[in-house]
Amino acid sequence: MLRTHTCGELRIKDVQQQVTLTGWVQRLRDKGSLVWVDLRDRYGITQLFLEEGKSDPKLIEAVRQLGREFVVKATGKVVERQSKNDKMPTGDIEIRVETLEVLNPSKLPPFTIEEDTDGGDDLRMKYRYLDLRRTPVRESLQLRHKMAQQTRTYLDSLNFIEVETPVLIKSTPEGARDFVVPSRINHGEFYALPQSPQTFKQLLMVSGFDRYYQIVKCFRDEDLRADRQPEFTQIDCEMAFVTREDILSTFEGLIRHLFRTVKGIDLPSLPHMTYADAMANYGSDKPDTRFGMKFTDLTSLVQGKGFQVFDGAELVVGICATGAATYTRKQIDELTEYVKRPQIGAKGLVWARYEAGGSLKSSVDKFYNEQELKKWAEAFNAQPGDLILVLAGPADSTRKALSELRLLLGTQLGLRDKNTFSALWVIDFPLLEWDSEANRFNAMHHPFTSPKREDLHLLDSDPGKVRANAYDMVINGTEVGGGSIRIHDRPTQQLMFKKLGFTDEEAKKQFGFLMEAFEFGAPPHGGIAFGFDRLCSLFGGVDSIRDFIAFPKNNAGRDTMIDTPSTISPDQLRELGIAVVEEKK
Ligand code: AMO
Repeated sequence: MLRTHTCGELRIKDVQQQVTLTGWVQRLRDKGSLVWVDLRDRYGITQLFLEEGKSDPKLIEAVRQLGREFVVKATGKVVERQSKNDKMPTGDIEIRVETLEVLNPSKLPPFTIEEDTDGGDDLRMKYRYLDLRRTPVRESLQLRHKMAQQTRTYLDSLNFIEVETPVLIKSTPEGARDFVVPSRINHGEFYALPQSPQTFKQLLMVSGFDRYYQIVKCFRDEDLRADRQPEFTQIDCEMAFVTREDILSTFEGLIRHLFRTVKGIDLPSLPHMTYADAMANYGSDKPDTRFGMKFTDLTSLVQGKGFQVFDGAELVVGICATGAATYTRKQIDELTEYVKRPQIGAKGLVWARYEAGGSLKSSVDKFYNEQELKKWAEAFNAQPGDLILVLAGPADSTRKALSELRLLLGTQLGLRDKNTFSALWVIDFPLLEWDSEANRFNAMHHPFTSPKREDLHLLDSDPGKVRANAYDMVINGTEVGGGSIRIHDRPTQQLMFKKLGFTDEEAKKQFGFLMEAFEFGAPPHGGIAFGFDRLCSLFGGVDSIRDFIAFPKNNAGRDTMIDTPSTISPDQLRELGIAVVEEKK
């Protein structure tokens, strides 16, 4: 190595040692008789200094010429600092520089490369390799590395083996659009990039691999959000000869192992909540259970008092925000505006304030006297000082809107601390969901998910009511993973495709290989996939998964650093058998 030590390791015990350090110039401070340089590498920052009268004047002059991000090699003696900095691990010492070599100069970076930077998102994405020099970004990737290591340790200890599956495949439906790759040697034909390795991991079970995992890239052409990237990573797993309970306990074990080894947190065992309960109590299939504020159904209590909005509604449902009676009219008006936004879609918001003194006031005093409001308060188990918020309308959309309002209040009331973790399993998802645009059912998880045996009789009469052997793991309101017990026989799989509107022909063309495999001794099996980027961002306490991906795409699906997607040459297009669109002059 060109260095004897890293920039993060020298301490007071090293005083008097002769050392050589290499790194990047983070900052230069020139006080006239003293010149300091903060030298940074992946391991930390060490302070170098030169002193007029004691250091070579030529060397001092050379150091004064150093710019930010110059790569240098410095040799000198470790000395104890006059004024120590207890905020940095190397803060007790500094290096009295004797020689310094510039290994490579640097252009002035487009933003400051320090913990806090002046660079905006776009600029930092374009120069991602510089952003990656910043400590918080680097630490995010180090966290990711540790999570991957611990995942492998845990799964390996349970006899899982990591198998790579192909990237150039045929469509595996997970509910998004495919990215496709044209074939040069088969003009007019395309590969699809995997939305997940779902069919391959099931085939591995047919092959007898019994316990498979893979930390694997998946590709989905869908609208991007803070927690979605077009290419992302899954911890993808499958097991044979298991029940749902085996899967839940094995992967609860994985998450608890990660919390223990990576964060030093002993996570309590995960409660199981049915999808039906999650929707009724939280209006969401991924409830944030760091706080209560469960829904209370008021429909029968409030109807029939002449208030049209409630009387004509399918559902009247509310939440009680503990201690929020202090909300001002302005704050409540803001909540009303929030729920009326088109994305939330509520028509309005009814409130009732349980004043600290015990009296009740509401926005619907005309229709409900204090006696009646007391009954509301009882239904919510509200106490003086609480604020009741109520929405009314069609059941599904009203629950969804109230769920958003609940999350907003949770945030405003400080109930969503990033260092508190609440994990649970949501189980018994519906097998199918109605797609009103396509006028048919879609698989809620994917078409390989098995229906619950006790609901099979409903498949013809009331398909929407059939529950699936499917489960999601939810932590702090984020779906971090999902999976199911699979169908493992041809007739059931065929029936499932039929229910999803596939003709026999289509099903055979797309998934004939899987159904055929089921005829060669397929064991009962099931599995799960975790969103690895999401899990990392949750552990890191950051909302966006981008920070945990070395080279992510922006919200328009672009990598602005390498500038892609981009056009390809007419020659390349021709070679691929794709019609060449003449460029406009
Ligand atoms: P699913 O589609 O639920 O299941 O995906 C599993 C997990 O992957 C994460 N995830 C994403 N993360 C970032 N960006 C995205 N675009 C994105 N899409 C999904 C989520 C999700 O919970 N084959 C099944 C698993 C199985 O049945 O075993 C599957 O892919 O955290």
